[in-house]
Amino acid sequence: MAYEVRGVVAREKGAPVTVETVHVPDPGPGEAVVAVAACGVCHTDLHYREGAITDDFPFLLGHEAAGTVEAVGEGVANVAPGDYVVLAWRAPCGTCRSCRRGRPWYCFDSANAAQPMTLGDGTPLTTALGIGAFAERTLVAAGQAVKVDRAARPEAAGLVGCGVMAGFGAALNTGQVARGDSVAVIGCGGVGAAAVAASALVGARRVIAVDVDPRKLEWALGFGATHTVDATEADPVEAIRELTDGFGADVVIEAVGRPETYRQAFDARDLAGTLVQVGVPDPTMTIELPLIELFGRGGALKSSWYGDCLPSRDFPVLIDLYLRGRFDLDGFVTETLALDEVEQAFDKMGRGEVLRSVIVL
Ligand SMILES: NC(=O)c1ccc[n+]([C@@H]2O[C@H](COP(=O)([O-])OP(=O)(O)OC[C@H]3O[C@@H](n4cnc5c(N)ncnc54)[C@H](O)[C@@H]3O)[C@@H](O)[C@H]2O)c1
Ligand SMILES: [Zn+2]
Ligand SMILES: [Zn+2]
Repeated sequence: MAYEVRGVVAREKGAPVTVETVHVPDPGPGEAVVAVAACGVCHTDLHYREGAITDDFPFLLGHEAAGTVEAVGEGVANVAPGDYVVLAWRAPCGTCRSCRRGRPWYCFDSANAAQPMTLGDGTPLTTALGIGAFAERTLVAAGQAVKVDRAARPEAAGLVGCGVMAGFGAALNTGQVARGDSVAVIGCGGVGAAAVAASALVGARRVIAVDVDPRKLEWALGFGATHTVDATEADPVEAIRELTDGFGADVVIEAVGRPETYRQAFDARDLAGTLVQVGVPDPTMTIELPLIELFGRGGALKSSWYGDCLPSRDFPVLIDLYLRGRFDLDGFVTETLALDEVEQAFDKMGRGEVLRSVIVL
């Protein structure tokens, strides 16, 4: 039997989201239905609602979720009903040119459910990042469900499914931050704060948090930042240079998604340093850089899709670090809300009042 559930839908560009009845089909071959327990509100959900990602409205939002597998389709071997899972928006296909080269974290043909979830009148929903978990149940490709230790409460565990993994991986997978490095993180929302925490975890010597909001800087200190820069009061490039003996940071992580912060990250690197762009720009943004500086500074300019993570490898590691008290996932959960309060969560995100609001089902 298929499912009729409540889900949060963005019907048109910029309009407030609404709670609608969503039809979730039984899982077909390679698919799983997951009963969602909690789902974090990420900036990317708001980007969808604003039409900044695609125009394929209506969207079923939500993609930072933990829950329990309820049913699986034919041929599913990685999970079974009753398993506690975190949902991933990358499920490597195993056969694309990147997977075949042994780089599944770049998979170019990541799997999603083949069947659509629909509104009552049959209109197919586009799921946020192929998940759609602001819903009591959701249908995913089984490979998107990653089994983790059920001792991790869902409000915290779900966050590993996007923002926290993106920030953690931007620092450690993409930026390869290591013991002794100096790191600067520009933008310390959920993603940036996770990059701060990951850098501190592996022994970065200096972890400089930059934001325009003093609350975010205060929280960043709690996650292990050694210094903070309020970009409304000081020029971040100069401040980062001053805090790194005049040279700039070994790794600068841009977690805002704007040209001006990208430029700051570019200029705040030491020679041969690495810039990691994890913030998502909108399609209208462009940047101009002096080519001689691009060459002359050396190093690497990298972008980080989902922290270059391999969910089946990295989610259980993060959850275990959390359960051992070494990674403070609880610190990202600013508040919990009900399914019909996603708009309030967007407002609070806009005002910078939260790291993560988490919808509990
Ligand atoms: N690459 C990925 O795979 C991936 C995954 C998840 C999210 N993201 C993106 O990462 C970005 C951050 O996401 P989030 O959930 O942390 O959002 P957020 O809104 O919680 O955080 C953004 C932070 O940037 C700060 N900020 C804004 N302007 C600034 C400026 N000029 N200088 C310094 N700080 C500034 C804000 O105060 C806020 O703290 C978004 O663009 C989001 O879409 C990327
Ligand atoms: Zn996200
Ligand atoms: Zn692939």
